[in-house]
Amino acid sequence: MNEQSLKNALEGLPVPEVIYFEETDSTNERALNLAGTAEEFTLLVADRQTAGRGRMGRRWVTTPDSSLAFTLILHPTSTEQQFMGFFSFLGGLAVCLAIEEACDAKPQVKWPNDVLLGGRKTAGILAESQFQGDMLASTALGIGINLQKGAVPPPEEVMFPATCVSDHCPGLANREHFLASILRHLIVWRPKVMERAFLDTYQSRLAFVGEKVLLAQPPGEDIQGIMMGVDMLGHLVLELEDGEVKAFPVGDVKLRLG
Ligand code: BTN
Repeated sequence: MNEQSLKNALEGLPVPEVIYFEETDSTNERALNLAGTAEEFTLLVADRQTAGRGRMGRRWVTTPDSSLAFTLILHPTSTEQQFMGFFSFLGGLAVCLAIEEACDAKPQVKWPNDVLLGGRKTAGILAESQFQGDMLASTALGIGINLQKGAVPPPEEVMFPATCVSDHCPGLANREHFLASILRHLIVWRPKVMERAFLDTYQSRLAFVGEKVLLAQPPGEDIQGIMMGVDMLGHLVLELEDGEVKAFPVGDVKLRLG
């Protein structure tokens, strides 16, 4: 991948600027630095990140040649700002749809926005926003994908078992075309994030529905329950052990064994 091959693959898409790094600290960090002046859908892509970041302060490793790491700069409208949680769902859904387009694998989303293949994590999304006063000005929608085996972190380094797209989707197109496909799905679904159809499409790919899960809650408490789905606010709905049905706005889902 290089800047030219990327630009060729993205031709025709409404991406005003593509910034390619062979190496950078974090495309989200670069995007947030640029967001004040950059146009909507400016895209930053890195072959390697030295300080890639994940949700909840975690690290995200991006291995050259075998990963896909990129960030889109968005300037959500004031209406969209009421649905900001759905922007990271949008990233996860777009990755699922691009995988489904490439092969007959059945990707799932692990609430809120990890993408699983065969029950293992293959992609993660980190949406970070920048404010002017108390108004949201821009969002950096960062997506990291393990494409080839070399991108899969060793088991001792991850909280959840990991895999790569090529293990489930041998016919996968090259990185640039896969990225273009994800962007196309993002662009199609972005205006619909406020519609019921968006949540239904997301929810139909939701992992662990009906199963017993543990929801890790910051600062470290686990809640156990049966996963019911996602409500209209995008919160995770669990049936707790005492029968109460409760929605949770944040957390990290794990399968509860036994
Ligand atoms: C997670 O699963 O915790 C989210 C991982 C998000 C990683 C991507 S890679 C591109 C962008 N730049 C970053 O530093 N993080 C996101």
